[in-house]
Amino acid sequence: MELFNVYKQWDIEPVKGLGTTLWTADGQTYTDLYGGHAVISVGHCHPHYVEVLTQQAQTLGFYSNAVKNSLQSTLAAKLGELSGYPDYSLFLCNSGAEANENALKLASFATGRAKVLAFCKAFHGRTSGAVGVTDNPKIRSAFNANPNVTFVPLNDLDAVEKELSQGTYAAVIVEGIQGVAGIFEPTDEFLQSLRILCDKTGTMLVADEIQSGYGRTGLFFAHQHAGIKADIITTAKGMANGFPIGGVLIGPNIKPSYGMLGTTFGGNHLACAAAIAVLEIMKEERLVENAAKVGAYFKEALQGDKAVKEYRGRGLMIGLELKPEYVGLRDRLLFEKHFFTGAAGENVIRLLPSLTVSMETAEEFVKAWKELTK
Ligand SMILES: Cc1ncc(COP(=O)(O)O)c(C=O)c1O
Repeated sequence: MELFNVYKQWDIEPVKGLGTTLWTADGQTYTDLYGGHAVISVGHCHPHYVEVLTQQAQTLGFYSNAVKNSLQSTLAAKLGELSGYPDYSLFLCNSGAEANENALKLASFATGRAKVLAFCKAFHGRTSGAVGVTDNPKIRSAFNANPNVTFVPLNDLDAVEKELSQGTYAAVIVEGIQGVAGIFEPTDEFLQSLRILCDKTGTMLVADEIQSGYGRTGLFFAHQHAGIKADIITTAKGMANGFPIGGVLIGPNIKPSYGMLGTTFGGNHLACAAAIAVLEIMKEERLVENAAKVGAYFKEALQGDKAVKEYRGRGLMIGLELKPEYVGLRDRLLFEKHFFTGAAGENVIRLLPSLTVSMETAEEFVKAWKELTK
């Protein structure tokens, strides 16, 4: 059997990782400033993470949600404390798309409405509901096209108001910062007005923090920079440093009932242990502060750089839009300087490193960048 070939891949296979370093079998090292799509939050093979996960694997790997699993409540308590949402409840699933599916389903259950407002260029995942609110017709099949979804431009308050004032929307779903699109931020004022409009029209505000959350922007969730609260928040990626997990943080105004949501694997013992270890490391090593500090350095060093048309993002969620003459720089960073970075389209380099990334590593990257662009 062969693999179903859907991924464009580099001819590079990391076989070992530690912190922000990756090794291939021939001993070549790479510095990872992408974290496998923003997933590696506490560094590869962090010793505490490895210890907790190993111990859990040796004790109990899985049992279903038909029985109690106190690791889930431990995770919920720690997440509530660190995220600033202690009065919300947590539903655990297995991926970002699944978290968004459940969030939209909950909003629809809670309001009795079917429609969802989403934003141009949004990416929310590839399962049917999630891809329905994703603004990319190339990845949406005829089966996934959803007549209940309307897209309006990000930061266009008039367009939002026109739709929400109809009083027919269950939810507005917004990324804390649009990632796949190439790092585009909702402004603080836009999010504040969105909050007010949602309250006025009985619409649930769903913040997709799957890429922008978990400390990456210098606060636990990106929408918190605007000083607002969402009704539902979705998380995944950095939540368990690579162990598959997704989470839906649900406001106290939404009440659960048995059977309303469910999953076989969601909240399993190994996933919870991994997610707990991540939060423990984040707290112990003050990683949210580190994301703000190293992020500020990147901004100072690369904003206004001769190769950069526009520097976008906050903290360690960075989009570097290149001037046309520097397109191709990402390949050179990889093959000549051995840095893993991400992309959005042809001309945006995305940096989404582990929150443990050191100032020294950031400085090495900037040095390599300057050498290649001088
Ligand atoms: C903002 C956002 N939402 C949802 C998803 C989907 O997450 P997953 O690939 O875990 O389903 C992604 C993945 O890139 C994302 O960036």
